[in-house]
Amino acid sequence: MQVRMSAEPQPEDVQTDDCMTSYTHIYSPDLLKDQVAFITGGGSGIGFRIAEVLMRHGCDTVIASRNLDKLREASEKLRAASGRRCLPVHVDVRRPETISDAVDETLKQLGRIDILVNNAAGNFLCPASALSFNAFRTVMEIDTVGTFNTSKVVFDKWFKHHGGNIVNISATLGYRGQGLQVHAGAAKAANDAMTRHLAVEWGPCGVRVNTLAPGPVSGTEGYRRLGGPAAESTGAFSSVPLQRAGNKTEMAHAVLFLASRASSYVTGAALVADGGAWLTSPNDVATLLGYWSSEKKRDE
Ligand code: NAP
Ligand code: COA
Repeated sequence: MQVRMSAEPQPEDVQTDDCMTSYTHIYSPDLLKDQVAFITGGGSGIGFRIAEVLMRHGCDTVIASRNLDKLREASEKLRAASGRRCLPVHVDVRRPETISDAVDETLKQLGRIDILVNNAAGNFLCPASALSFNAFRTVMEIDTVGTFNTSKVVFDKWFKHHGGNIVNISATLGYRGQGLQVHAGAAKAANDAMTRHLAVEWGPCGVRVNTLAPGPVSGTEGYRRLGGPAAESTGAFSSVPLQRAGNKTEMAHAVLFLASRASSYVTGAALVADGGAWLTSPNDVATLLGYWSSEKKRDE
């Protein structure tokens, strides 16, 4: 079959954790004017770009994770590029008291929270047979327990009385039982259920809860860890209906849709933004074991 490249241009992006040198608005630049977004894992990768794009739409942000030095550096870049406020805060999503302190600080300094993006996660390729009990538990605790902890603290302290929007960053790994991914696939599948449960319970308080499930996204730690570069060099993206990996700005645009009034009647939904990858990509354990062992050799 003759492959015709998509007529739609990809939005701007840069591969590093830096702001874009130029940006073309699709939505009104005032879409989130004077709102505040709390973004876990907002100091790197997809979370950094989500922070940037939300800020370019008039939003102030809080970026929350474990490495405060990284967050401070990221917040300087984000402020300079957007002219909006960005508060870096230390949080380990496994520890509710750190989230509680960070949310108190947010409300003290920025006065409100309109959007919560649960983006923090941990992942690596590992066959179930080689995965330690602690490795499985660690990923479940960051991805699933961490998403619940953060959602509950923000709900109790603000959303319960003011409403708000939650966007959970998921993955398609569990849809077909992706090889070497039982830990993250199980954790994200639980989060997808959590999205629906919380949408049902918190809808009457004016809280919408939705999921974005990215596919492979270039310029990210996830892409590097899960075999993205190897897939690129072997031409594996030709099996993806849209013939390529996604970029971080495309994920940020999907979050912008879910977190804004553009999706005002959408809750409990999962938006897959993967170029159709999960439908057609190979799920071949032998190839994945090859990526895994070459990565292990490189790390040794
Ligand atoms: P990333 O840059 O490594 O983002 C993960 C972030 O989570 C980091 O900023 C990290 O910051 C933070 N984090 C990790 N553990 C934490 C903890 N215990 N408490 C608080 N923060 C923590 O990777 P990414 O690839 O952009 O991934 C972002 C999201 O997209 C994840 O939810 C991932 O599952 C999802 N996703 C990514 C892809 C992809 O191709 N990249 C595909 C599907 C889904 P600290 O180290 O400072 O804590
Ligand atoms: N393969 C198999 N097991 C691994 C592993 C890997 N690549 N990396 C860590 N583990 C295991 C550890 O050996 C440990 O198990 P053990 O005590 O039985 O030896 C367990 O996982 C916890 O590791 P630790 O390093 O103590 O956890 P942490 O809380 O400091 O870090 C991780 C969490 C492991 C998820 C770390 O990779 C991380 O911080 N990731 C964030 C960034 C990221 O993953 N980005 C991509 C998102 S898609």
